[in-house]
Amino acid sequence: MKSIIVNGTVVNSDGQYRADVLIDGETIKAIGTDLPRDGATVIDAKGAYAMPGGIDVHTHCEMPFGGTIACELFETGTKAAAVGGTTTLVDFALQAKGDSLLKTYEDWREKADGDVCVDYGLHVAVTDLNDATLAEIPKLVDEGVTSLKLFMAYKGTIQVDDGTLFRTLQKARECGALVSVHAENADVIDVLVSQYLAAGKKEPKYHVTTRPPEAEAEATGRAIRLAEIAGAPIYIVHLSCAKALDEVRAARDKGQAVYAETCPQYLALCEDNFDLPGFEGAKFVCSPPLRDKADWPELWAGLRTGDLVTVASDHAAFNYAGQKELGLTEGFHKIPNGCPGVEHRLFILHTFGVAAGEISITRMVDVFSSMPARIFGMYPQKGVIAPGSDADVVVFDPNIEWVISAAQQMQNVDYTPYEGIPVKGAVTTVLSRGQVVVSDGKWVGKEGAGKYLGRLPFSG
Ligand code: URP
Ligand code: ZN
Ligand code: ZN
Repeated sequence: MKSIIVNGTVVNSDGQYRADVLIDGETIKAIGTDLPRDGATVIDAKGAYAMPGGIDVHTHCEMPFGGTIACELFETGTKAAAVGGTTTLVDFALQAKGDSLLKTYEDWREKADGDVCVDYGLHVAVTDLNDATLAEIPKLVDEGVTSLKLFMAYKGTIQVDDGTLFRTLQKARECGALVSVHAENADVIDVLVSQYLAAGKKEPKYHVTTRPPEAEAEATGRAIRLAEIAGAPIYIVHLSCAKALDEVRAARDKGQAVYAETCPQYLALCEDNFDLPGFEGAKFVCSPPLRDKADWPELWAGLRTGDLVTVASDHAAFNYAGQKELGLTEGFHKIPNGCPGVEHRLFILHTFGVAAGEISITRMVDVFSSMPARIFGMYPQKGVIAPGSDADVVVFDPNIEWVISAAQQMQNVDYTPYEGIPVKGAVTTVLSRGQVVVSDGKWVGKEGAGKYLGRLPFSG
């Protein structure tokens, strides 16, 4: 089947120009003007951009976490991604203590395969390392799992110690895997949480005060140093604040292979969101926590300079009713950490970034699609509009204005932290490997048509 996207402006990370995009089967056949249409379905992109489908390298569908299970399913999460202009997810398979890494990978394939509506890959999050699991890392790479995650936070559950992180970095380096870290000092946070609870301070807002930016900066610097000793590249997930960014910048300025991601919640939300009545601040509990809005311009500057290379959602959806409410009586430390956002990443980036003059449209495409594809071994199959690449294309009209609301979302969760925020820009059409899956902003695709994507080793 052939389609042609006409009258639009093609935007890649390296530039934009007026051209039509011809798609044949699952891939892009040609880009240009006056392309032969012979029987192709015509998609009119007048006044809109044709961009590579978004790649969200940080999602948590169906993940057991914080005493419950993330309520987003692979089916609903990938559909929500598509209506939000994202055509590939890389989700986290979380190792349960005692499980092998290969079993973890296989378990997540079982959860996702047949349900996913767009393509997806997997990272494995290592929580239990020993000689046997360490030896499995090259086998994961053979399966296309070329990135791992380790948590320096969450003491007593999934936190790893520095030795574990260091050994993983060494092994990853040997076999071309990229290690990513959740960088917060778990011991400091643990002490602060105990002190606040002992003082009777249990409300959601104390999640923020017990996880200070310095605890993130310290762990970020430590992770970077461990990577330096191991001679390995490192990727810092969900960086939230200027102090942690300073650590990344200093290392990058010295030439170290350090990559960092931020998320829409750190660019558009802040600790003031906790000033809601009652327990509602729980909707904003994620880690690292929301920060002072003075951090926003620093993060945008980081996105402009390249010290921040990607914007991922860290989509970790827990219903307010029954899940976030787990912290209602005992305190903020029992609230499952995470915010939903896979559906709204593009709109936050465009509204607070491009429309506000913080970043260009090409830079937006870079951090939304191209850089995630490059860093995580999917480029140029994904992340670019080019002949031969997968026909994952988003038609995005930058002029449509609308207001985010949970009542209209596809995400399988009972709230959105972006409720009531007016945004600029809407997704009209999305193609996933050549199939139209979103039309007039609505899901029209085939459930289960997404495929597992084995990724290439890290290549710098
Ligand atoms: O609060 C968050 N970010 N929850 C999801 C798990 C993680 O730390 O990425
Ligand atoms: Zn994390
Ligand atoms: Zn996460």
